[in-house]
Amino acid sequence: HQLLTQDGFVGKNDLHYPFEERGLQFGDGIYEVIRIYQGEYYLLTEHVERLYRSAEAIKLTLPFSKDDMYRYMNQLLEVNSVTSDAKVYLQVTRGTAPRDHVFPENVPSNLYAYVQDLPRPVDSLKNGVYAIIRPDERWLNCYIKTLNLLPNVLAKQEAKENGCFEAILHRENTVTECSSSNVYIVKDGVIYTHPETKQILHGCVRQRIKTLVENEGIPLKEMAFTIEQLNDADEVFLSSSTAEVMPIVKIDGRTVKDGKPGKLTQSIQHAYKKDAK
Ligand code: PDD
Repeated sequence: HQLLTQDGFVGKNDLHYPFEERGLQFGDGIYEVIRIYQGEYYLLTEHVERLYRSAEAIKLTLPFSKDDMYRYMNQLLEVNSVTSDAKVYLQVTRGTAPRDHVFPENVPSNLYAYVQDLPRPVDSLKNGVYAIIRPDERWLNCYIKTLNLLPNVLAKQEAKENGCFEAILHRENTVTECSSSNVYIVKDGVIYTHPETKQILHGCVRQRIKTLVENEGIPLKEMAFTIEQLNDADEVFLSSSTAEVMPIVKIDGRTVKDGKPGKLTQSIQHAYKKDAK
């Protein structure tokens, strides 16, 4: 297995990180998770664009131009002969320097990206998953895809401990997103999801869903909803590069309607599948 780094490709066992690395010590970096279907990237442009937006937001200089980034990302799949469903994890940090909160000067950023097989979650996509509701305890710049994921990790762990797949997060009763995905409700034939403010990650799949539902003639409103509206929804689903378009069929132990994936959710799943292949 070959990894992409700022210095080119290296073997999986040959990459070692120094202890004074800003990603490790401060979470001072950004990342992306990019889907691959049958050896081909899905929404690569959207992910690369978001990576550059995240970098700009934290004043981080990326080691590659966008053109180089596309070239190397494609090489990553080539050198590893990827033909399956997979994902790429990519992170960039502010580099290696003696520990100091202040940015180091003239220190190159550290980048690595690796590819890993990841089958589509077909059973969950068909039957739906369970979720819990938790307070959103993250900072106020959730649109930046940073390595600081402790609140997300804690929420996700609580979900797991409650036999659930996700934690739906809220700020003072307003639902924002999930610990590692965006969230939507359907009410009377209309889809609602939190607007693209600084309080949510602007998901690449979310962005794609907007186009897909528009083509299908399904109304979508980027309007925040409350926990009460969530609990009163006809359908609930989430989206991410790894979970795709995933029905949520039980929240805090109560089924959403009859506990089966909803009709609109299924038509978006159908449109997504056609788009991704
Ligand atoms: N998570 N919101 C949060 C907080 C996320 O971490 C993610 C992605 C999303 C969905 O974004 P996208 O559609 O671009 O995948 C929303 C990735 C998959 C992760 O951290 O593993």
